[in-house]
Amino acid sequence: MAACALVVSAVMAAQSQDRFTLKASNGIAFSEFKGYESWQLIATSQHDGDDGCGTSKTGCMKAILGNPAMIQAYREGFPGNGKPVPDGAAMAKIEWLKDANESAPYQITVPGEETEVAFMLKNPKRFKDTDGWGYATLSFDAATKSYKPKAGQSDPSFGKTCHACHTAGAKTTDFVYTAFARR
Ligand code: HEC
Repeated sequence: MAACALVVSAVMAAQSQDRFTLKASNGIAFSEFKGYESWQLIATSQHDGDDGCGTSKTGCMKAILGNPAMIQAYREGFPGNGKPVPDGAAMAKIEWLKDANESAPYQITVPGEETEVAFMLKNPKRFKDTDGWGYATLSFDAATKSYKPKAGQSDPSFGKTCHACHTAGAKTTDFVYTAFARR
């Protein structure tokens, strides 16, 4: 059991190193999201098509997490209260391939390999072109079991592509799609 715990903590340590020394091409440092693994859950979601999960063509499962400032905004009634998300609030959307737990007595779909983590950070002064939101994505490399900035985002303004879709569907909720799931 002790050996098992050691292996688990070694794997977790290996997985958590390095990513926080990286930067997205638009200048956002991933260290700005340090600790996101233990942020509180806002909601989960699942996509079954071939287009809403990074490079996965078979869909994925997602957990959307918020830092304490974001969770506080929901507590105060966001988005229903009509107030914008406060400066300093951040969210992480972790995506996994879908897997099955064969030992379960009924059919369940569980998180498999990680695929990517997408981030949003509110700072109206800094991200003027995108209504105050900064966007950045880490891709999981299955071969090396490590994260790196998502490829294809070398354009410093790639946040505009992210923001265009968040504007298309979530403009009235300060560009945030996810509602807080009650529990
Ligand atoms: C084609 C539309 C589209 C594009 C492009 C897009 N998103 Fe999203 N995003 C969504 C939808 C829909 C959700 C709702 C949650 C889900 O995907 O399950 C979402 C949710 C999120 C969330 C959780 C907070 C929320 O608004 O619900 C983050 C963080 C996020 N996206 C980051 C990004 C980043 C970073 C990019 C650019 C690299 C990006 N998004 C590009 C559609 C998009």
